[in-house]
Amino acid sequence: REALHRKLWHNSDVQRTLTDRTSSSHKGSHGKGLVIGGSRGMAGAPVMTTKAAYRSGAGLLQVAVPDDILSLVTSTMLEALFQGWSSHNGTFSGAVSGDLSEFDGIAIGPGLGREVGCSMIVQVVLATEVPLVLDADALYHLKELKDEVKARKSPTILTPHPGEMARLTGCSIQDIQSRRFEISRSFAREYGVYLVLKGPYTIVTTPEGDQFVNTTGNPSLAKGGSGDVLTGMVLAFVMHSQSIQEGISNAVFVHGKSADTLVQTAHSTLDVLATDVIATIPAVLHSFL
Ligand code: APR
Ligand code: MG
Repeated sequence: REALHRKLWHNSDVQRTLTDRTSSSHKGSHGKGLVIGGSRGMAGAPVMTTKAAYRSGAGLLQVAVPDDILSLVTSTMLEALFQGWSSHNGTFSGAVSGDLSEFDGIAIGPGLGREVGCSMIVQVVLATEVPLVLDADALYHLKELKDEVKARKSPTILTPHPGEMARLTGCSIQDIQSRRFEISRSFAREYGVYLVLKGPYTIVTTPEGDQFVNTTGNPSLAKGGSGDVLTGMVLAFVMHSQSIQEGISNAVFVHGKSADTLVQTAHSTLDVLATDVIATIPAVLHSFL
């Protein structure tokens, strides 16, 4: 199939596709998710991911962090269940606890770190057949795990910024920027993944090569933590959506719309924090549901 499908994702597409929670729902029906990440010095990243996922409709979330930062992160959030996995020098040692296949979705990467133990965790997660969102340092490790990505049968979602995409492909950042549609499409098809190439006009590409371009967001998002927030939103939306692509596109849209709302009301583009974006998700969802 060579016909190139490319479409802008608008407010009306979100309105049409965003699923409401039904009155009969319980916490299990909207997804039991796992967020894996964090390390000494980057303990807040998986917490932001998890808070964003809860604000985006996840039913129940667990957070796995290296056990030597467990007490630190537990105190930052009351709603999640925390797991401390074996650690070494403030990052994961490589051992996974429990059965990962019991989850409806897993997000891995925010604050993870680049040590070999973290790479071993990414490898175990790739071998688990549940929908998976890979971001940040998880993408760093993917460079050496490409066959494991290709072998997956469950949905695999990658959320690189242009720098991460450059490393994954071996292209320069300038190449990525000037050929973003083409490079996304060939990568998504080759590896059989959903690829979210971030930045202004974020492109969501399906494993078939269809592309959906986001229409929200502004430079206030160019600040540490915005990507961690998006990762949690993608996890949650994918868990409660009929279609993976619709879930991803809606998450990207609402993320950008939250930042737009902040800038249109009480903020300038200089002063929006990632936590402000999380706090504005409810107002955006309220406008749709
Ligand atoms: N317009 C619209 N959206 C934007 C813009 C912009 N000008 N700038 C950034 N964004 C959005 C992106 O589309 C993405 O959703 O903000 C988010 C930023 O995500 P990341 O680049 O992953 O940022 P984050 O991880 O939070 O922090 C950046 O992490 O990986 C490192 O090198 C990176 O040090 C940097 C830090
Ligand atoms: Mg990031």
